[in-house]
Amino acid sequence: QDLRTLNTLQLPAQAEAFARFSSVSELLSLLDRAAANGLPLRVLGGGSNILLANNVPGLVLQSAMTGVQVLSRTAEYCRVAVDAGMNWHEWVEQSIAYGHGLENLALIPGTVGAAPVQNIGAYGVEVADCLEAVYGLQLSTRQWRWFSAAECRFAYRDSVFKHELAGDFIITKVVFRLARRFRPQLNYGPLAQLQPATPQGLIDAVCAIRRSKLPDPALIPNAGSFFKNPLVSAELAQQLTAQYPALPRYPQADGRSKLAAGWLIEQAGWKGRWLGPVRMHDQQALVLTTNGNASYADVAALRDAVVASVQQQFGVLLEPEPQVF
Ligand code: EPU
Repeated sequence: QDLRTLNTLQLPAQAEAFARFSSVSELLSLLDRAAANGLPLRVLGGGSNILLANNVPGLVLQSAMTGVQVLSRTAEYCRVAVDAGMNWHEWVEQSIAYGHGLENLALIPGTVGAAPVQNIGAYGVEVADCLEAVYGLQLSTRQWRWFSAAECRFAYRDSVFKHELAGDFIITKVVFRLARRFRPQLNYGPLAQLQPATPQGLIDAVCAIRRSKLPDPALIPNAGSFFKNPLVSAELAQQLTAQYPALPRYPQADGRSKLAAGWLIEQAGWKGRWLGPVRMHDQQALVLTTNGNASYADVAALRDAVVASVQQQFGVLLEPEPQVF
């Protein structure tokens, strides 16, 4: 199976086998079949945060389950379980019928099941803020397991699913705890002028901001932010601010500062500049885009060049965000 259309960077790669499952029993019989044939397993969501480095041995699985189930409702919260295969943005649009908290995460590409893995975030909200639990199957033990939000060990673009459980867990369901009252989170600059907004108005505003800066993966292949915003020591942040007063800097509770990687990349001269068939986006330098004909080697060459430039000019090490699949 060609995976080119199943990853938003449109990198070419062949999977030994590929299957979508529409029920838990279908999933279990696929797992049996893979075990019988000695095929390793990989799980793919929307393919919008992965980097295909090679052909993929074994069976690649994708959930086609999109159910939504209300678990309980109180005056304050509505708890809703959503199947992993649901498109993330579609779920955000539907979520406001149940409750609030996800509006700022509109238009993020990918699936519900992939959202907890990297703890997707945008405009002052992370999925961890509204997530109660994650359910799924551990491949090595064949055990169905619940993970509470605390057990997911969420951090900035990080969770347990990127560490101990990497490659060993199929998320099949995510439980959200949505607030019945709409209390919009409008701390992010351009959202501040919106008050008071309706939930749909907030979703629309977030979509408009995203569309103005971020390339639509359907038109321009990309995987969203290609690097994490780096965390640096208070000392280095101070030193850099003295040298570059315009450097966007977000102080953290522990004294360190998060820096805007997009700003660093732009200053290093990479915004909009092609290296072969790839470049950093001309509206948002943190997003690596391709002309649709790029290989992993092309992407890796630009990644390494950008990392080296930023390291040399600022002494800051950028860490790629998409996961090598
Ligand atoms: N900036 C530049 N030049 C650029 C890009 C950004 O100077 O080319 C500056 C901006 O002017 C701003 C600052 O950098 O002062 C931050 O930029 P922006 O608000 O666009 O957000 P970001 O830090 O680049 C992060 C997330 C995005 C998320 C936005 C909004 C990461 C890795 N990225 O980007 O998430 O949408 O904040 O909250 O944390 C993603 O993860 O794929 C993603 C798109």
